[in-house]
Amino acid sequence: KYLKQDELTQECRNLLSSLPTEKGWVTSTLYKYQGFWHPCRHLQGVLSCQKHFEAQDTDILLVSTPKSGTTWLKAILFALINRTHFLKPHDNHPLLSNNPHVLVPFLELKLYLEKEENPDLSSLSSPRLFSTHMPYVSLPTSVHDSQSKLVYLCRNPKDALVSLWFFTNKLRIQEMGASPLEEVFEKFCRGVSIYGPFWDHVLGYWEESLKNPKKVLFLKYEEMKEQPEVHLRKLADFLGYSFSSKEEEERMVDGILEICSFENLSKLKVNEEGKLPSGEDYSAFFRKGEVGDWKNHLTAEMVERLDKICEEKFDGSGLKF
Ligand code: A3P
Repeated sequence: KYLKQDELTQECRNLLSSLPTEKGWVTSTLYKYQGFWHPCRHLQGVLSCQKHFEAQDTDILLVSTPKSGTTWLKAILFALINRTHFLKPHDNHPLLSNNPHVLVPFLELKLYLEKEENPDLSSLSSPRLFSTHMPYVSLPTSVHDSQSKLVYLCRNPKDALVSLWFFTNKLRIQEMGASPLEEVFEKFCRGVSIYGPFWDHVLGYWEESLKNPKKVLFLKYEEMKEQPEVHLRKLADFLGYSFSSKEEEERMVDGILEICSFENLSKLKVNEEGKLPSGEDYSAFFRKGEVGDWKNHLTAEMVERLDKICEEKFDGSGLKF
């Protein structure tokens, strides 16, 4: 169903030969396109999406850095937007039988990566909910030209790195074993990680959220974990889906957060046993779901070095992790 390397478009193949490369974290080579690293299949998805995606004014795009809680926020967005259809009664909610990645598909990793270079998305009912990891500079122009909204999610780089390390180790074939943390740490610090450099990704959306707060809502995983109710209401207000006083009385906010909680989603049969068509087990998207697991894995030297890089990169931006 998905494109193989020899099925890339001529345009993509031509481009690949002109791009800087690095060895990736799993097996594939990474290519630097518009300042960010992609395996070639993902790059094909980015190119097709840039060429063909027509954003609509009512579209909602969840953008995130990898491993920042995308799965969680996909679930929350889906439950929020569709709350009048599904939250009562609870037992037939689509989140109970579908992984969030199925309900809110990735543009460049799913819709534009399947056989068709230009999928027909016109039959989807509005508001259409999509997600992407594309950096701000790579977004299709129609996203800027439309009234569509962007919800951006990122996470403390130390936790994002550790989460990505565990995730990519699961994708490596058994004979390869896990990558040494030292090795991926070096790469991460040099900006060589999927959709990296991390800081450039975050800064692109951070700056846009300051310039255009009606277009881009900037969220952090840690803040969502600390005050989920506050951020869910903020998200609803930003998207024009505020909770009514009747819904507040019915504790709709709590209902959504409960169904989307790590405890609930990670224990569902679909998420324990299912897998994406591209091969990843759904269970790989639910590991610990906690803030600060980096303390259990990174050495003091690693922490110092990464903190220093972040300090330099985010200096003057007003952004802190
Ligand atoms: P950890 O590896 O630190 O546990 P993404 O969805 O962007 O791939 O991010 C995955 C991270 O989000 C993983 O972090 C995962 O455990 C965490 N996560 C998944 N579902 C979650 C949920 N419902 N609530 C909180 N965190 C969740």
